[in-house]
Amino acid sequence: MIQQTLVLVKPDGVKRSLIGEIIRRFEQRGMKIVGLKMTKIDSDFSKKHYAGNIDKDFYKGLENFITSGPVVAMVIEGVSAVEVVRKIVGSTEPKTAEVGTIRGDYAHASLEYANSKGEASKNLIHASGNLEEAKDEVAMWFSIDELHDYKISHEEHTF
Ligand code: PPS
Repeated sequence: MIQQTLVLVKPDGVKRSLIGEIIRRFEQRGMKIVGLKMTKIDSDFSKKHYAGNIDKDFYKGLENFITSGPVVAMVIEGVSAVEVVRKIVGSTEPKTAEVGTIRGDYAHASLEYANSKGEASKNLIHASGNLEEAKDEVAMWFSIDELHDYKISHEEHTF
């Protein structure tokens, strides 16, 4: 039941100074940050992270974007964390992301618009898609000693 999932604040979120606001959205829901760092990835790491998307037309733009500046990577822990985090983040396309989600509140451009410019969608965040992906991505981005075991009060009152 208690799961860990990977979240990235992508370069657009970092440059728009939304790191704190994005972290706040998970914390206010009672979720626990167990790993956190700022890092800049290279083309090889992008290919590892987006292995399932390498053959897609948008991959080159996506790689250019994700390697264009620092990202903030975090591991979030909570009950059904993978599903709950995806819900907080909102759907992939900013244009149709529900208002109240991070993408729905802080982005708006359609995938069609991004494609017309040959660029990646500036959709602020990555969040693991399912539990298997979450396990792989947490291991890809964080070593064991970068993950922390501690208690927050929500574990007593809301977990
Ligand atoms: S998702 O949200 O992960 O389920 O979406 P998926 O289709 O599996 O993964 C697509 C990732 O590529 C990013 N991306 C784009 N997708 C479609 N079209 C365009 N133009 C595009 N540009 C970027 C999309 O945001 C997904 O990456 P993450 O990092 O998961 O958001």
